[in-house]
Amino acid sequence: MKKRFYNIAIVGLGNIGSYLFNFLNKNKINISNKNINNFKIIYVSAKNKNKKRKINIKKNQWVKNFKTIIKDKKVDIIVELIGGSEGAAKSLVFGALKSKKHVVTANKALISKYGDQLSKIAEKNKVNLEFEAAVCGGVPIIRSIKEGLIANKINRIYGIFNGTSNYVLSSMDQNKTSFNTTINKAIKLGYAESNPSSDINGEDVASKVKILSCLSFNSFINKNIHVEGIKDIDEEDISNANKLGYKIKLMGFSEILDNKIFQRVHPTLVDKSSYIAGVNGVLNAVIVDGKPVGKNIIQGEGAGPSATTSALVSDISSIMRGNIKFPFAISNTRRKKYSSGKITDLFFSSYIRLNVKDRYGVLADITKIFSNNKVSIKRVLQSPQKNKKNSSIVIITHRSKDNYIQKTLKTLVKKSYIIKRPKLLRIEND
Ligand SMILES: NC(=O)c1ccc[n+]([C@@H]2O[C@H](COP(=O)([O-])OP(=O)(O)OC[C@H]3O[C@@H](n4cnc5c(N)ncnc54)[C@H](OP(=O)(O)O)[C@@H]3O)[C@@H](O)[C@H]2O)c1
Repeated sequence: MKKRFYNIAIVGLGNIGSYLFNFLNKNKINISNKNINNFKIIYVSAKNKNKKRKINIKKNQWVKNFKTIIKDKKVDIIVELIGGSEGAAKSLVFGALKSKKHVVTANKALISKYGDQLSKIAEKNKVNLEFEAAVCGGVPIIRSIKEGLIANKINRIYGIFNGTSNYVLSSMDQNKTSFNTTINKAIKLGYAESNPSSDINGEDVASKVKILSCLSFNSFINKNIHVEGIKDIDEEDISNANKLGYKIKLMGFSEILDNKIFQRVHPTLVDKSSYIAGVNGVLNAVIVDGKPVGKNIIQGEGAGPSATTSALVSDISSIMRGNIKFPFAISNTRRKKYSSGKITDLFFSSYIRLNVKDRYGVLADITKIFSNNKVSIKRVLQSPQKNKKNSSIVIITHRSKDNYIQKTLKTLVKKSYIIKRPKLLRIEND
């Protein structure tokens, strides 16, 4: 069979782009053998030509303005590694698909915002839009849903989708350190970016949940999602969780219930003996619950140049094998629009931490408020604080409607004996 050459252009030569460039050059023969066809990196581009990079760019490979690449007839595949949902990345990806180029991107912000529009252009122009690297780095979850798990009706997808927050929570637990000390250490070790806000506030996980929902439920992007991050988790919560037999994880969930889509991201208490409790450090784990397969778990490195390159090469290879797939698994003409469900309609067992003035009758009043709001208490953990004037009360509830829990907290917060805003963490019993 005659081999065909795919001409690749890489735009963005930062952490990921530079690593991919070197990897493709070093593993050319191996990758070509596995895909029958050959490839060549014909162009690269980034913002600043004079920046020192650990890559060896050949003469005529550097292109000053990526718009030239979009128009160049020789280019087959454009790899976008700039990042961000707007600006250069947006204009490059829209432009490339409109010019009938295959696109590979690691950009979750762009795909979770403009994925529907982009996939319509890709489908119309019969080119690939591949984004395996945008969700959980080296964990091959997108290709698994599209190909390996194609037979299944997925009803729930959930797990740990952010390595930085997982590193912070597991390190706080193992080393008994504060949130601030741990995040600073994560930045020093390169496990967190210098501005880790989107990892910590849950936004990064939210983008991934929105993309996974589309693939799992054959739906359009649903922007309604409940998002809570981990910045309020402190050493006392970690210690309480341990005493009660739990670990705290930042988790993303998406599920279809009564024909509505429920998407949420929040710190979650999981049983110490559960699979997810043992996923520590920068690891990610995605659990897919479908029929007929049952529960499937894929775990691996969620970020970093090497894991992300693994996913990017899988996307490039898919294109080189002539595997033109719908970006979101099925044709846009068949994707569905679900209405959104609210977290307040879901049922959870919950962890509620109250800091109260230690005085007579407080606990009795608290239990009455829970009962008035139809929330039944399963366990109470009370620890007087050093000065003995205050006390920390942790309540574990039986499964209750989230709305009832919220109402309970609203009543409690008005009480004069409550010192700090009550803290709510949901428990995952699965
Ligand atoms: N880092 C990770 O672990 C990871 C994991 C999964 C996915 N991703 C995704 O991968 C993408 C790249 O991330 P990264 O960590 O490699 O980012 P990065 O190190 O900040 O690199 C960004 C690159 O984009 C270039 N760039 C910026 N503006 C540009 C413009 N107007 N025109 C052309 N090039 C421009 C920069 O050029 P200069 O070099 O000249 O400044 C730089 O080379 C992002 O979408 C990110 O979300 C990253």
